[in-house]
Amino acid sequence: MGSYQASFRVWRGDDESGALQDYTVEVNEGEVILDIIHRLQATQAPDLAVRWNCKAGKCGSCSAEINGRPRLMCMTRMSTFTEDEVITVTPMRTFPVIRDLVTDVSFNYEKAREIPSFAPPEGVAPGEYRMQQVDVERSQEFRKCIECFLCQNTCHVVRDHEENKKSFAGPRFLMRVAELDMHPLDAKDRQKAAQEEHGLGFCNITKCCTEVCPEGIHITDNALIPMKERVVDRKYDPVVWLGNKLFKRSGSKS
Ligand code: SF4
Ligand code: SF4
Ligand code: FES
Repeated sequence: MGSYQASFRVWRGDDESGALQDYTVEVNEGEVILDIIHRLQATQAPDLAVRWNCKAGKCGSCSAEINGRPRLMCMTRMSTFTEDEVITVTPMRTFPVIRDLVTDVSFNYEKAREIPSFAPPEGVAPGEYRMQQVDVERSQEFRKCIECFLCQNTCHVVRDHEENKKSFAGPRFLMRVAELDMHPLDAKDRQKAAQEEHGLGFCNITKCCTEVCPEGIHITDNALIPMKERVVDRKYDPVVWLGNKLFKRSGSKS
């Protein structure tokens, strides 16, 4: 493949209005979508807004939708498209547009702040933590997250229902709660919080979040489903049920 001219449709606009604009841009061998967007900026649209940092799939800032599919622009090779294909690039749909391809992702930072950090038991100081290798490995996968928020953008619970944003943390942050729940030294009741504060019940395990994760994290199978199972086990475990009843009775005023 040598150089060729590709047809691009890029969404231009702001929080009030916008539309797709057509461009013809040069493509060279080995390039990715972000290269083309940069060439577009350099040659035809100097005011085109795009967020990026690493161009290596590690900073999580170049998330967008390419032909309707949520992806990292820097990790999407031009060679995956045919030369006569029209390539459409639009901003992530779930978050408010600031300008062009840049969205306001503060929803995600707000959700992150709602999750209390790791809480070791009282009397155990840093340096005294001991855990099995198997427990370390279990949550290792979740630590690969680059916070691109493509999973948050894709989840239909918030993508199609703005009203759910208040009560649903989204896959990335439910995964964080699950990770803390799996931690053998974490002393907080993460299962109760997942259900009552972070909206675990909204998730109907469609796995769309997993499909778009550029890190290949098995968000649904390894974090959300096990978390749901633990919540259900606890709800229907007769010992836990009796414990809750007794606790409530001894704590009630009547
Ligand atoms: S599996 Fe759950 S969190 Fe993931 S996209 Fe589906 S509903 Fe959303
Ligand atoms: S879990 Fe995957 S898709 Fe979601 S924010 Fe992290 S890296 Fe991105
Ligand atoms: S520019 Fe950093 S992930 Fe794409």
